[in-house]
Amino acid sequence: MSILPTLTRRAFVAVAGTVGAGAALGRPLAAAGTSDATPINPLVRQRADAQVFRHTDGFYYLTGSVPEYDRLVLRRSRTLAGLTTAPERVLWHHLANGPLSGFIWAPELHLVDGRWIMYFAAGPSGGGEDVFRIRTWAVACDGPDPMTGKWSLLGQFQAPWDSFNLDSTSFVHRGTRYFCWAQREPGIETNSNLYLAPLATPLTLARKPVRLSVPALDWEIRGYKVNEAPSFLARNGRVFISYSASATDARYCLGLLSANADADLMEAASWSKSPVPVFVTSEATGVYGPGHNSFTVDEAGRDVLIYHGRDYREISGDPLFDPNRHTRVQRLYYRPDGTPDFGIPVGNGPMPDRFSPLDDATVFLRHDGGSLLVGGGAVAGSQFRQIPGAAGTVSLAPIDLPDHRLCRAQDGAVSLLKPDGSRDFADRTSFRRVAGLADRGGASFAARGGGYLHHIGPRLVIGRVSGLASATFLVS
Ligand code: AHR
Repeated sequence: MSILPTLTRRAFVAVAGTVGAGAALGRPLAAAGTSDATPINPLVRQRADAQVFRHTDGFYYLTGSVPEYDRLVLRRSRTLAGLTTAPERVLWHHLANGPLSGFIWAPELHLVDGRWIMYFAAGPSGGGEDVFRIRTWAVACDGPDPMTGKWSLLGQFQAPWDSFNLDSTSFVHRGTRYFCWAQREPGIETNSNLYLAPLATPLTLARKPVRLSVPALDWEIRGYKVNEAPSFLARNGRVFISYSASATDARYCLGLLSANADADLMEAASWSKSPVPVFVTSEATGVYGPGHNSFTVDEAGRDVLIYHGRDYREISGDPLFDPNRHTRVQRLYYRPDGTPDFGIPVGNGPMPDRFSPLDDATVFLRHDGGSLLVGGGAVAGSQFRQIPGAAGTVSLAPIDLPDHRLCRAQDGAVSLLKPDGSRDFADRTSFRRVAGLADRGGASFAARGGGYLHHIGPRLVIGRVSGLASATFLVS
């Protein structure tokens, strides 16, 4: 008697990972222009599906899937950068048998009516396709400190169908606490879709959920037909739900749903889906399969994106069992219309910055391939990493041309060149980062041999400065 396997991510399409070795995982030095507070990517190695948030107690909390998929972990730090080495506590282990004895996936920590609750997906350990009989559960803490309290099983989420469900998140909007999760819906031939509903209790819905999204676009159905890992953000009069799509290899990417913040979130028509993915693999910066994100703010209150991604494209075997989906962090910027511009994954090394001249906040230091300028446009070409040089100097490298440096030409013009190993090149690419010349915050870059980096309209030049504001760059 053939027992048809429950339709799961692994039964829907047989996908064999291509064979290949993972790349070496170098960790560049922290750049001189960065402080201890500058996070260095990867932020936390081998923590996939990471949730990081800054609580009102001033701490950052991080949880995520561990490669063994056997336990719930939590770490906290006063700084984002500190999460890299923060001690990690095991809150709860999967059980010896039964529906919670197998995979433990994608935990999220939430403070629900004053009680710490961690939601997670779990399955049995019976072997075969049964291990993908994944359902959503929660554990709860008995006290105010999630790092020291006692955690115990609260129960199972009462989903609308008894089917594959995972990657839940919760958020409060206009006074209502919502639950958003991924689930396979009977009658819809996908691995998982996205659903939303207000909560009546931590494990029960107050009403029938609305189906927010079904994977149907080409970039959502590569390998598997997946919409999962929703994450909520409210900014600039709109609400956004980012989500992950396709197989968990290099094809994994982020999509984005958005609605007016005053709309009825339980009306499917309130939501619109980006027709293209908003965050994808970058060969230029060496990050593959970026996804399963969360949102938080840095110590200065600026929005940051947390996500996972690998350092290499080729995976041997099932991507689900490749352990190197590391937690990564980068700043999240916005377009003039208020929508988030995710840019590209910034790659390994200190988190990069953008530099906007004090006399024109609408433009940024940027490159367009070989030349440098000051102008508007996509985030990707305007993010620069400060590479440490001799005697506390720095050189500036675009994240998507990491082997190039901002270089002063003899006539004071500025270009992007690859190092040639000469002393002269080192001199022409070395700058001292000093406090903004206009004495209104920001930074200025003093060139070796005199002069400062500054702009004249869209042109970037180095030399004597006429207006201090043109040589003062606000860092974001
Ligand atoms: O990382 C384990 C699971 O795989 C996560 O819950 C899901 O987002 C991903 O596809």
